[in-house]
Amino acid sequence: MSSREEELLRRLDRKKIPRHIAVIMDGNGRWARQRGFPRLVGHTAGAKSVREIVRACGELGVHALTLYAFSTENWVRPAAEVKGLMKLLVRTLQREAEELERSGVRLRTIGDISALSQTVRDELGRVVGQLKDNRGLILNLALNYGGRQEILQAVRSLLRENVKQVDEDILSEHLDTAGLPDPDLLIRTSGEFRLSNFLLWQCAYTELYVTKTLWPDFRRVHLYEALLDYQTRERRFGGV
Ligand code: FPP
Repeated sequence: MSSREEELLRRLDRKKIPRHIAVIMDGNGRWARQRGFPRLVGHTAGAKSVREIVRACGELGVHALTLYAFSTENWVRPAAEVKGLMKLLVRTLQREAEELERSGVRLRTIGDISALSQTVRDELGRVVGQLKDNRGLILNLALNYGGRQEILQAVRSLLRENVKQVDEDILSEHLDTAGLPDPDLLIRTSGEFRLSNFLLWQCAYTELYVTKTLWPDFRRVHLYEALLDYQTRERRFGGV
């Protein structure tokens, strides 16, 4: 561990670790372009950041980590990039499953995965099953996910069930994130101040942290910096 990591870690208040962290992992394409590489090289480097942030969150006792891996809008990217991202997902799951199992991580997904290829769904199903009895960090991958689509889908299922009285709890329980606490902290890399259709309902009171750091450069130190910043915030949830 670097001395900077150690110093930041010492300053962290272990009693104020967010229960749920959500991340918009942006900037893989720019990272690759700056180096004269194809975009997929950026995504591959981004997968290394995923690995490090998942480990760090597990060690800190974070309850859930939700990563925006593929949005409903990402399908318009060149077919080769979409294919490459899916391959990277499958490869990463295959490669990391053992370590995830050892470190107690559980896996779940949000979003409409029925649109993903059979290969991707099989691999997801296999790893979700392999990790289902773990009790540590919940790694929640947003795949073919869109916040508006998720809310619509919840409303449709309420109509189908003929539910007449709807309140916030009932709607929450019909979202893909049912059972998870709302995110305490949303991190977005690469400097854009947008929600991009991510967890629209769930982020009503979430603290936002935007960093210029591109996702493939976002490592432990950057996570610790985000957490230290979060710990200086006073959360009032609309009160005084
Ligand atoms: C945004 O960067 C990134 C994505 C759309 C994909 C995120 C995927 C990974 C980090 C790959 C691995 C994921 C897992 C879960 C193994 P961008 O391409 O929009 O970057 P740009 O804005 O600079 O073009």
